[in-house]
Amino acid sequence: MIRAVIFDLDGVIVSTDEFHYQGWQRLADEEAVPFDRQVNERLRGVSRQQSLEILLERDSRRRSDGEKHALAERKNEYYRALIQTLVPGDLLPGVPAVIAGLKDRHIKIAIASSSKNTWTILERVGLTDTFDAVVTGNDIRETKPSPEIFLKAAHQVGLPPAECLVIEDAAVGVEGALRAGMRVLAVGSAATDPRATARADSLATFPASDILMIGEV
Ligand code: BG6
Ligand code: MG
Repeated sequence: MIRAVIFDLDGVIVSTDEFHYQGWQRLADEEAVPFDRQVNERLRGVSRQQSLEILLERDSRRRSDGEKHALAERKNEYYRALIQTLVPGDLLPGVPAVIAGLKDRHIKIAIASSSKNTWTILERVGLTDTFDAVVTGNDIRETKPSPEIFLKAAHQVGLPPAECLVIEDAAVGVEGALRAGMRVLAVGSAATDPRATARADSLATFPASDILMIGEV
């Protein structure tokens, strides 16, 4: 039985995945590093520093650790300017209804996001007091596909992994949730991932009642 739902943030609750892309694209253009949406797909769900390493795979220059740090900071500045524009109306379609439906049924809800900007985003969209647990990029040692972030979220809501379902838009997130022993609903960019327990293009077509039936026999 599912008694907790753990949400990824970027690309599941809000379309900040697009802002991440815009921030990296601007940095890549300024640094003359080839970058496009296809490469960007590999950045989904991974930490800022690891995202930079992937972006720099196509770089012809060698960068010191200090330079890399400065590049990641610069991208974060661009990104933070973009998230300042967020308002509660920017929640992705279906999200408010799913959250309300889960709360009505006394299901625990949590956030498990690799982002160190998680709390800023939750503030902007009016969700700071909504979740029973929030685990962010500041609280983990290993980035997804490590199961660490999901296990921490389960621990914080006090439920075993087998009673948790994760909603993810990243391939590394789907993998991490499965490694944690949880069921996964893959949405958006991950909606065709064959490893997921269930798939949906968007939460708009997947009400809370259906989410709670995933993987039930
Ligand atoms: C994840 C995103 O949620 O957070 C990644 O999917 C991003 O694209 C990562 O790199 C880290 O985010 P931040 O906000 O700490 O740079
Ligand atoms: Mg995501």
